[in-house]
Amino acid sequence: MSDFNTMIVPLPDPIYGTPYQNGITDPLWPVDFDGKMNIRRIAELLGRLAVSERLADGSPPPPEEVKLRAQYASDYAGRTARQSNLTLIRANVLSSDRAELIAVLKMLTEFAVEEMQLKPSQSRVAVLEQVPTSYRVTVTLAFGASLFVDAQGEDRFGLRTLRPRYLKQMPSFPGDAPDFDPAASGSDLLISVCSDHPYVNIATTRFFVEFFNQRFRKAHPHVGPDRNLMHFMSIEQGFARKDKREFLRFDDGIDNVQMGRDDLFRFVYVEETDNEPDWCVNGSYLVYRKIREHMPKWEVLDEKTQEAHIGRHKTSGAPLSREVAGADGMTPVYPDPADERDGPLTAHVRKVQPRRSEADLFGMSDLERRFVRRPYPFFDGLDPDTGTTCNGLQFVAFMKSIQQQFEHVANMWQMNPDFPVPGTGIDALYASGVLSTVDGGYYFCPAGLRCEGDYFGATLFEALPLL
Ligand code: HEM
Repeated sequence: MSDFNTMIVPLPDPIYGTPYQNGITDPLWPVDFDGKMNIRRIAELLGRLAVSERLADGSPPPPEEVKLRAQYASDYAGRTARQSNLTLIRANVLSSDRAELIAVLKMLTEFAVEEMQLKPSQSRVAVLEQVPTSYRVTVTLAFGASLFVDAQGEDRFGLRTLRPRYLKQMPSFPGDAPDFDPAASGSDLLISVCSDHPYVNIATTRFFVEFFNQRFRKAHPHVGPDRNLMHFMSIEQGFARKDKREFLRFDDGIDNVQMGRDDLFRFVYVEETDNEPDWCVNGSYLVYRKIREHMPKWEVLDEKTQEAHIGRHKTSGAPLSREVAGADGMTPVYPDPADERDGPLTAHVRKVQPRRSEADLFGMSDLERRFVRRPYPFFDGLDPDTGTTCNGLQFVAFMKSIQQQFEHVANMWQMNPDFPVPGTGIDALYASGVLSTVDGGYYFCPAGLRCEGDYFGATLFEALPLL
């Protein structure tokens, strides 16, 4: 596999200026392969021999090129091209005044726009060192349930009636670590920063955490010299490997939503017909779970047992199902939802997406419950209690309904011991104690900016009578 830095297929940039916030379904690989890409280099990238040096003379493309285009369509087209670094900042607003909250959101938007527009600096670069044209910075702002009604039932800002339908404090799930208290983990705001360089993430994060209150006081002298408007609660970090493998050494990202822009958007963004408050249109729910991976428990398992836990072959990523004869030889089929000849029913992928052919009791097909996953491995150093390293996955997912998507998947399938058949057991990764969830929260990302000077969440306040 080629190094992504030398790829001729340029990594897609974030798509600024859409009705949606950045960092949710973008950067996005173009849905249509535009034909301008260098076919030889794509062939190298995909590990195939390039044979087409055809001039654009209108003749039909040779079969090799057709094949490459098909492979591009299956592996890249319409998929989010996650940046390599993630930072999640949780914060509470230290005010119960709506005008102050609006001023905070305006300034957070200014910060976000400023950071997303920064170009990589050409100064102080070592000789012969290449500076990328973009670090692909995205900043995504999300609202927690406590902004609408806090833990004491207080509606600080008069927003109760406009709370997005599925936004609530994250409940506990089986497999949560005993000391994980979702009630203590929620926050008013979550800021997700992504870029392709760790320094860029650090600089952007420091910009928010260390300079926000200072800049706010300067712009709004009436708040006084000592008062902070934001309390920053926590900073979480994650990184991505180019090959998408995470600590369990499996490729995480094979079956993400990817069938083209329309489908990506169908699963993710709230539409007018979704029975949400009007201001939520073009917004998206964000589910965050910090999942610890207990490596000593995983690493004693042999490869076959690890594959049985995931439901895929470790090297190829193919499902553990029976193979059928096809045009290209024998290929694995997707597992029959309740047939153990296609691998254990407790395997992770089978518990989280059974792919049954019939609609369920709610009239939904299993594939309609998919969502966009943007997970990032994390490494938190040493766990002093056990003397082992503390690492795992920052599971971040975006969707249009927490109830019909994430919660249905987690409660009705993954952690339901009687799914797909009575007595099956819960997801093997949790049953064996390899995974435990240690942190998390539910959030709602409002729509993107409509014009210059707009701010995140503006439509929420436009829906309210003036105070
Ligand atoms: C540390 C935690 C986790 C690890 C290591 C992990 C790993 C994986 C791997 C290796 C795959 C197969 C490759 C792929 O299709 O992308 C996968 C698929 C998937 N995972 Fe996870 N996962 C984790 C947590 C979760 C959670 C919490 C959920 C949701 C409740 C989830 C939902 C999914 C879904 C929906 C798929 C695609 C299944 C399909 O369409 O066949 N994962 N995961």
